Amino acid sequence: MRLDLDEILGWLREEDGKRLEGLWAAADACRRATVGDAVHLRGLVEISNHCVRRCAYCGINVEHRDLGRYRMEADEILACAGQAVALGYGTLVMQAGEDYGLTRDFVASLVRRVKAETPLAVTLSLGERPDEDLRAWREAGADRYLLRFETSDPDLYERIHPSLPGRVSDRFAQLLRLREMGYEIGSGVMVGIPGQSYASLARDILRFSELDLDMIGVGPFIPHPDTPLGRADAGTGGQGDAGKSNLTIAQEQTLKSDSQVPATEAMTYKVVALARLVCPQANVPSTTALATLNRAKGRELGLSRGANIVMPNLTPVKYRALYEIYPAKACIGETAAECGACLTRRIEALGRGVGKGPG
Ligand code: 5AD
Ligand code: FES
Repeated sequence: MRLDLDEILGWLREEDGKRLEGLWAAADACRRATVGDAVHLRGLVEISNHCVRRCAYCGINVEHRDLGRYRMEADEILACAGQAVALGYGTLVMQAGEDYGLTRDFVASLVRRVKAETPLAVTLSLGERPDEDLRAWREAGADRYLLRFETSDPDLYERIHPSLPGRVSDRFAQLLRLREMGYEIGSGVMVGIPGQSYASLARDILRFSELDLDMIGVGPFIPHPDTPLGRADAGTGGQGDAGKSNLTIAQEQTLKSDSQVPATEAMTYKVVALARLVCPQANVPSTTALATLNRAKGRELGLSRGANIVMPNLTPVKYRALYEIYPAKACIGETAAECGACLTRRIEALGRGVGKGPG
């Protein structure tokens, strides 16, 4: 559906329950007509929580010094791939911080093994790696790459994503290069980052369609107390210490004005629904961050308002708590089998089936 900036803004600001029901219904009908009723399961393995970056929202950033760090062995990861097959998932998503301890060769050989030993599609989500790494992994057989651009506002982006020395961080350019390399590309944003205005979020949604994304992941920002944005969080409901605020003046102003996007469940559903409408064919997950805000119904409501994917966690339980990009993540103690069974039950209760194959 063609939506212009003002229409998107209108929906983001819409408070009328009846009209919002119309938005949910339009997104749900669009989802059914384009990608159908099947809900595809993508098994997620968080293969390392090491990271060299200092993203201001993220709990595994390098400045979080007292966090225990882990990096999984190839055989452990292959065992998770085996579980994905046994549980009927079509895709294995391997995610980590930007960890150069995961060398180009290690990841390439891992991808080769997964592709040789299983029928799984392979998605990588390993940060802003150099093109040579990305190309090697594509040649090894990786199918898809996920890299959220997080915000299309260049000033906000720069404030929350300090670059590595001597490197510029340009995720839009990187997404386009990934596509040229032959990857299917996924991206997305967080909803309610301190300093995110309605206008910038509306522009993010237009960017989804300009980039012609294959996958769009959106979730609420959840303040992590051991991060600059978690500590500074004043206006978005976190436990932040306003006295020690290290927000910029522009962020403070956005937070005080009525243009700050709230990091709420309702706002996240609006963005999920609008993502579906502007990119009818995309795969849109109902995210764990959404389930974290509403454990009882968050995933289901996402699936009923535009989403068609869920990402059950396959990470061994002993590592789960250490992959703490935000606190109190849903499903933190569930084994892969429990998580899979729970999601299947929830999907069937919605009258939707679990998709077969790579989806
Ligand atoms: N709250 C919500 N989502 C977060 N992410 C990282 N930190 C947080 C947080 N504090 C999201 C980012 C990243 C994805 C893997 O997790 O969007 O791209
Ligand atoms: Fe590196 Fe979050 S800061 S993954």
